[in-house]
Amino acid sequence: MVKPEESASKKKKVAILIGSPRRNGSTVILAQEAERGLNERGIETELVFLNDLKMRGCQACYYCKKHDVAECAVKDDMQGIHQLMRESDGIIVATPIYFGDVTAQTKIWLDRLFPFIGMDLSPKMPGSKNISFIFTQNQPDERLFETPIRTFMHMTGLTGLVVKDYLIAYDLDAGYKPPVIEKKEFMDKANKIGRELLEQP
Ligand SMILES: Cc1cc2nc3c(=O)[nH]c(=O)nc-3n(C[C@H](O)[C@H](O)[C@H](O)COP(=O)(O)O)c2cc1C
Repeated sequence: MVKPEESASKKKKVAILIGSPRRNGSTVILAQEAERGLNERGIETELVFLNDLKMRGCQACYYCKKHDVAECAVKDDMQGIHQLMRESDGIIVATPIYFGDVTAQTKIWLDRLFPFIGMDLSPKMPGSKNISFIFTQNQPDERLFETPIRTFMHMTGLTGLVVKDYLIAYDLDAGYKPPVIEKKEFMDKANKIGRELLEQP
């Protein structure tokens, strides 16, 4: 029989990584809606603003490749993110589109996943974890940045993270356009992304 403290310690956890520098922008609002969906399912969440972290881009030292380890030689705040990702059951990344691609903060995060990709492109992320994405953009054409968005998700998946779902929330510019909270379609989808993240097919 599972003791109460054992089952409590098995509570699922999801890391939500925010690539927007804005603490009250559309990206955070949608990420918090996904968080609500997760919490409704009893899943613990940890929300991290990548912008708050001190982390450099990948230094191409190839420490992880030379030693064949899923560890990074660059000792900065990304170490904490690697640990958080290892111990999480799933991940959500939410980022605005800047100049047709993810923000610089989000791109640094992606580059620093290098230790989780083997030289032969074998995935090195432990376990099988789902990842879903929330993208926000000003442009009203949802498909305008589809190619860089798909490439970003594909590259993330090389680590072994399983791409589950994504939302492209368009026609958004906090303070200049109607607030995202009024866009039911996006809020509902963000909630669904959270609710269903850990569901297996
Ligand atoms: C530096 C910068 C570059 C941007 N580049 C684009 C872009 O290329 N395409 C686009 O549709 N929106 C672009 N935007 C708009 C943001 O993607 C959009 O407003 C997004 O919802 C912002 O998210 P936030 O409210 O969380 O800050 C840009 C915004 C900034 C500040």
